[in-house]
Amino acid sequence: MFQTLLTSIENGIYTITINRPDKLNALNKIVLDELNKALDEVRDNNEIRSVIITGAGPKAFVAGADISEFGGLNKAEAMALAQRGQDTFARIENSAKPIVAAVNGFALGGGCELAMSCHFRVAAENAKFGQPEVNLGLLPGYGGTQRLVQLAGKGKAMELLMTAGMVDANEAKQIGLVNYVTTAENLLASTKKLLDTINSKAPLAVAACIKTANAVFDETKDGYAMEIEEFGNCFSTEDMKEGTSAFLEKRKANFKGK
Ligand code: COA
Repeated sequence: MFQTLLTSIENGIYTITINRPDKLNALNKIVLDELNKALDEVRDNNEIRSVIITGAGPKAFVAGADISEFGGLNKAEAMALAQRGQDTFARIENSAKPIVAAVNGFALGGGCELAMSCHFRVAAENAKFGQPEVNLGLLPGYGGTQRLVQLAGKGKAMELLMTAGMVDANEAKQIGLVNYVTTAENLLASTKKLLDTINSKAPLAVAACIKTANAVFDETKDGYAMEIEEFGNCFSTEDMKEGTSAFLEKRKANFKGK
């Protein structure tokens, strides 16, 4: 179905594997187009409860935007490319269904930006994160300057952006870029385990958590007001009635996403 992605659904978890291992899964135009199609599927397919994004092969999650497509771009074309990347990653960040990055190697440039646009990240021990764009006479264009500051804090982000330095998985955990570090063999299994837990919760409430937490970083939104609104909305859901009844009846809740 896709030229550059492998996809599968198992127990409500949709796994998207970026599949250009000979180019370290670099994000070319086709990958971005296909990622958008896969995100349409995530939004429209009721079988999908949550998503893992990972890279093919043992070496890279994604080693960046495809540098071979940069040659000859003028300013307007370069801006359009950055806009396309930012729009795609904003769709990931604002997805109502949880999307987690399983980082299996280099996550550089656009790869680090892709991972940072996911709701959170799990890394294999061999993962390496960085924004090496200044090596190319560039800065990150797919949201990296903003999300790296949000996740790692301004001082560390400034250092990584300006030095083009890389951090390994353990340092990435220390600075807040990733939640867990696992062996490469356990990466997908442990990410799936986290998503199994999330998938057992009330989907509309999970979506409201994503929307409201994202509002912290959106100056056009009042997150506290949004929280009140979303809290109110939950009271008209079947799942809220089911969740509170199940607690009082000392049984496991059976959520329907309604
Ligand atoms: N865009 C296009 N092609 C890329 C790429 C990218 N971002 N990253 C890697 N590749 C390609 C290489 O050109 C090479 O292709 P080839 O075999 O046809 O020559 C292949 O992937 C393997 O990469 P290689 O550099 O040989 O692997 P390595 O183990 O020596 O080095 C990296 C790994 C990640 C350190 C190195 O590939 C690298 O620095 N990549 C670019 C990272 C970057 O600057 N990203 C930001 C882009 S804005």
